[in-house]
Amino acid sequence: MIKVKTPATTANIGPGFDVLGLAFKLYNEYTFEEIDKGLVIEGCPDVYNNKENLVYKSFLLAAEQLGKKVDGLKISMKINIPVSRGLGSSSACIVGGVYGANAFYKGGLTKEEMYKIAVMIEGHPDNISPCVYGGLTASMIENEKPYTVGYDISSQLKFCALIPDFETSTNEARKILPKTIDFKDAVFNVSRVAVLLKALETGDMDMINIALKDKLHQSYRGSLIHEWDDVKTICEKGDSLAFFISGSGPTLMNITKDENFPERIKEGISRLKHNWEIKMLETDKGGAKAEIL
Ligand code: HSE
Repeated sequence: MIKVKTPATTANIGPGFDVLGLAFKLYNEYTFEEIDKGLVIEGCPDVYNNKENLVYKSFLLAAEQLGKKVDGLKISMKINIPVSRGLGSSSACIVGGVYGANAFYKGGLTKEEMYKIAVMIEGHPDNISPCVYGGLTASMIENEKPYTVGYDISSQLKFCALIPDFETSTNEARKILPKTIDFKDAVFNVSRVAVLLKALETGDMDMINIALKDKLHQSYRGSLIHEWDDVKTICEKGDSLAFFISGSGPTLMNITKDENFPERIKEGISRLKHNWEIKMLETDKGGAKAEIL
C-alpha cells in the first residue's frame, strides 16, 4: 500500500499572480491499494466519488506516462484541506495522484518529472510548486516547461487564514480578470513581487504591508467574495495590514507575527453573516511525501 501526504498551499500572495506560492502544515493523505478490478474511493464527499475524481485522473495520467495500465485501484482519502477555498486542494489532489502512481508502480520518476506532470495537469504552477517542493516558491513556464525556485521565509511569520463557508470557482475567478492591463500597473506589481520576496525572508512587516499590494487581480475578485470588505476592515482594526486573497479565493489571508491576532478579530468575524473559520497556519518546508506502508 502506498501513502502520500500533500500540503495545503496559498498562491499569488498579493502581487505574484500565477507566480508565487507557499506550502502549509495542513495535509491531505491518500492511500493507494491494488484491488482485482474497478475503482473504489473512500473518504471524500459523494460528488467526487467517481472516475472524474482528480486524484484518480492524475494517478491515471502518471501511470500512462509510466506505460502502466490501471486494472483495480482503491483510493482512501483523509481530506484536511478545505475544498475549493483557495488553499490548493486541487493541487494536493493532483500531486497526490501523480506521487501515488509513481510509488505504486515503482516508476522511478524524479521529483522534477513528477512536478512537470502535475503542472501539465493543473495548467499553472503557482500551487503545484510549493505542494511538491514545500516552502515559498516562485515559478514560471517557458515553452510549456515549468521552472521553480525556492525562497527562504522568516520563521517569525505566521499566516492567519479566514476560511468561509462558501466556495468560489477558479474558472469564474479567472474569467472576471481584464484581458489587458496598464503598463504602470505591470510595473506596480513587478516591483512589489521583487521587494516582497526579500521582505518575507527578513520578516520586515512594514515592507510586507506595502509590497503585498497588487493591481492585477484582487480588486476584480473582491466581488466574488461575500463580506470581503467587512473582513478586511475587521482585520485592519485588529492591526493587520498584510491582507490578501489566498489563490483565487475565497479564503482571505493575513500575515502576522502576533499569535494573539485571532483573538483580536474573533468577535468581529463571529458577527458576520457567513461562517468564517479562523485558522493559524505554519509554513511547510518539505512538500509532498510518498511512502510504502
Ligand atoms: N494563480 C491562480 C489564480 C491560483 O489566482 O487564478 C488559483 O489556482
